[in-house]
Amino acid sequence: MWSSHVKTGAELTISSIPATALAKEFGTPAFIMDEADFRERASAWNTALANAFGSNTGTVYYAAKAFICVEVARWIKDLGIGIDVCTGGELAVALKGGIDPAKIEVHGNNKSVAEIEKAVSVGVGTIVIDSLYEIERVAAAATKHGVVQKVLLRLTPGIEAHTHESIATAHEDVKFGFSIASGAAWSAIAQVRTHASLELRGFHAHIGSQIFENDSFEISAQRLIELLAKYRDEYSVELPELDLGGGYGIAYLPGENSLDPASTMKDLATVVTAQCAAHKLAIPRISIEPGRAIVGPTMFTLYEVGTVKDVTLENGAIRRYVSVDGGMSDNLRPALYDAQYFAALANRTSSAPKVSSRIVGKHCETGDIVIREIELENDIVPGDLLATPATGAYGRSMATNYNHVPRPPVIAVKDGKARVILRRETEADLLGLDI
Ligand code: LLP
Repeated sequence: MWSSHVKTGAELTISSIPATALAKEFGTPAFIMDEADFRERASAWNTALANAFGSNTGTVYYAAKAFICVEVARWIKDLGIGIDVCTGGELAVALKGGIDPAKIEVHGNNKSVAEIEKAVSVGVGTIVIDSLYEIERVAAAATKHGVVQKVLLRLTPGIEAHTHESIATAHEDVKFGFSIASGAAWSAIAQVRTHASLELRGFHAHIGSQIFENDSFEISAQRLIELLAKYRDEYSVELPELDLGGGYGIAYLPGENSLDPASTMKDLATVVTAQCAAHKLAIPRISIEPGRAIVGPTMFTLYEVGTVKDVTLENGAIRRYVSVDGGMSDNLRPALYDAQYFAALANRTSSAPKVSSRIVGKHCETGDIVIREIELENDIVPGDLLATPATGAYGRSMATNYNHVPRPPVIAVKDGKARVILRRETEADLLGLDI
């Protein structure tokens, strides 16, 4: 839930810097990011993949959509892992951070022709094709630039992963990829093979996000491997790559556990090895795309309390509304997915009795809730700081300017030093688009 260099219990600190010092220097709300923790988590997934798959290890592609900025792209480059981008904007950030284009994989169910052209022209390693139109568009761009583009086909393996419906992606009724069951995948394979400017390297599937059941990942791998075998039987050649996507679940609340990279990859390798043996296939190079599992736990959001108000409910109970200086503009996930978060008093300790509270933001809507129900110390007053852990994934990256609220900065902390890696928006930024 908290990143490894955060200490709670007394005043909250990260890498020995007190929350009050961070609030004073950088203001609130702010995303506070544990840089060493990010590097450790990225390395842990990289090592886990390598240990589990040995000479058949592909690439860990960090899913940029979870959170990216130029400085984080530089860390990805230092770490030597790959990156998955799904828009021209994410591609631009990855390139600005100096990531080798060969380590970039391009996703998206509706990449524009301009995005495809850009990706092909800079020499991205892999484009994951999502539709029949795109086969033609990528082939044309590759021909135009005189290259043979490596591609994977995104497949839907037909799995009901256990997660919120907005973030499940591998059942049949979705916009992504080619269905294996309907035969669409098989037609797409034949179509890709008609283009000399495309090199089909293998298949991709991403079953959804915030998933904890290993068997969902395993069934997906199994279905892709069955198709690899069918391909070998038809075309007498084996495809060399499988990308099994991201989606590894993390802890948001006390008592929850994030998936362990080593055991998750080991279990996956067991299934992949057995399935390949059953089909007499060489084990392909296996890649993964964790986003949340790398960046999610590395940040917490630091808020300042502005008002506290008690409301009497119909049953006579009291609900305490604690308003913070951010809300749905910096954390859309509670409103979009009923996501649950935890918060802790960060500027001091309190042994006051706890009271049932709701943490809300400053936006003009009732659904602007950070935490629907939490027991908070009953002496919390305006000026206190609250810290919400595990906001690194899809927090800043889905932040909006609703109500013309400037988006918060990201402050990276390492070895007792804090620095801005993505600055706070200003009123000038907000007015900058107006004509
Ligand atoms: N690969 C592909 C093709 C994806 O579409 C995604 C996420 C990932 C990898 C990374 O998934 P992760 O490891 O981060 O779970 N906004 C939602 C999550 C949407 C995920 C979209 N795709 C949320 O806040 O929960």
